[in-house]
Amino acid sequence: MLQLSAYKRTLLFRLFTWMDVVLIDWEPQARTRKHDHGKSFGLIFHTGGKLFEVRKGKLIISKAPWLLLEFPDIAHIAGNMSAEKKARSLHIYIPQLNMNFFDDTSEDLEILEKVSTK
Ligand SMILES: [Fe+2]
Repeated sequence: MLQLSAYKRTLLFRLFTWMDVVLIDWEPQARTRKHDHGKSFGLIFHTGGKLFEVRKGKLIISKAPWLLLEFPDIAHIAGNMSAEKKARSLHIYIPQLNMNFFDDTSEDLEILEKVSTK
């Protein structure tokens, strides 16, 4: 069963308002709320485990090591696909991260249901 917000974000570095470097440790089956990154671009180094993303009605799965991109104003849900293993990712946001949060749509919930039963 997916668990909302069962992850730990550690701010490793902040360069004024220009850049944030954030480490995320994901518990098994952790997931974020649906969110965007405001005007920030994100470069994500997926360093351990198996992550998923729900973006524009699609499920995207990545296994470490992998590199992901996040674009401004794109809303998504991210999480750890594994029911047993933790995952880890390093995120660089330019400029500094500003998140906006949204409710899950019924389409999102359908995809998340599949993730939680895999
Ligand atoms: Fe995100």
